[in-house]
Amino acid sequence: MAPVAVIKDDGTPASTPQANLKSKVEPVIAINPFYSPSLGDDGDTTYPYADFKPFFPKVDWEPLTEVAVTERGLFADPSKKNLLSAAQKVKNLTPAIGTEILGLDLRQLTATQKDELALLIGERGVVFFRDQELNIHEQLDLARHFGPLHKHATTPIPKNGLEEVHVVYNDASRRPDTSAFTKLELWHSDVSYELQPPSTTSLKVITGPEYGGDTLWSSGYALYSSLSPGLQKYLEGLTALHSAVAQAEGARAAGLHVRRKEIESIHPIVRVHPATGWKSIYVNPGFTRRIIGIPKAESDAILSFLFHQISENPDFQVRFHWEPNSIAIWDNRVVTHSATFDFWPATRHALRATPHGEKPTSVEDYEKSTGKVAKDRQLELSGATAVDPNKGGSLKPRGYND
Ligand code: SIN
Repeated sequence: MAPVAVIKDDGTPASTPQANLKSKVEPVIAINPFYSPSLGDDGDTTYPYADFKPFFPKVDWEPLTEVAVTERGLFADPSKKNLLSAAQKVKNLTPAIGTEILGLDLRQLTATQKDELALLIGERGVVFFRDQELNIHEQLDLARHFGPLHKHATTPIPKNGLEEVHVVYNDASRRPDTSAFTKLELWHSDVSYELQPPSTTSLKVITGPEYGGDTLWSSGYALYSSLSPGLQKYLEGLTALHSAVAQAEGARAAGLHVRRKEIESIHPIVRVHPATGWKSIYVNPGFTRRIIGIPKAESDAILSFLFHQISENPDFQVRFHWEPNSIAIWDNRVVTHSATFDFWPATRHALRATPHGEKPTSVEDYEKSTGKVAKDRQLELSGATAVDPNKGGSLKPRGYND
């Protein structure tokens, strides 16, 4: 495990004989990018978001139990006319994933527009807005429209004590340790190990670098569509283990208090989005450890293939450059994401609100419970599979341009 700052229970850095020899303000520079340990009150009274700096309360929470979730996208008019007609511009950023909406103030949305937004995010994977003035309470309220809010067991909350907020924070004194994880391992779907992993999740950047610190999202629908029919069918019958264990152990190694006992859950590898009815690959390098019921060698090979497709295939991805007051809202059920850590020593500070979704639904369960047939997004939208059945796998030599 990478070297990380050791933090005392009150959130201040542990004092060591070596530390005492050094200047009190010397920064701790080796930080694992999965954690941004608090250095306590750094006395910075000029920073406008000091109340939102990271804080790790020493509290203990009960295990999560099942909560009722209503899928708001099911209430939406499929044309989304109320939402889209209120925007100045709606721009799809790639065919597979990502839409930017200009000229909408998220504080002004009606319940009908919020339902349509849920459906749009379910279809496009992630939707971006800029210049959003909504404060954290308004962001939490918007998130509550989509589901009851999740409280993270290990990552920081803001100093003002809002336990449902996940704080992302790096500055000059918190240099991400690039030796801690490969870039592939940092791709994840938030807390996918939970019984009811998140749905329509929002992140607002309140302070960000002029350049760098982008986030990338990869579409699970597009990954599913790209597979051969045989592999699609095979994966539809399988489940995989998602684990919080390594995250909790990493937090403890950093001297942090784990607020809820770590959990492992088994979820279908192909899950169906309850509003779109589309099939999506639901595994991620951050938390998926093992396919259940098949030889480990086979599990490792299949997961490695899927993880590499998530992280390497640009046709499935969208990349967003944040400005202060940008907000991204993504559907964690159908996308995987990863932030870039190329901006040190600049400050990047963001706040996340994370509603619980339903328990992930397999193709079989979706079809049984709804009487509908789960769909391949690409086939549904274009009438053609991603792989041309007449050409796929051809042994003929192919031209290669450039
Ligand atoms: C997250 O994983 O939710 C945070 C992503 C980011 O920092 O861009």
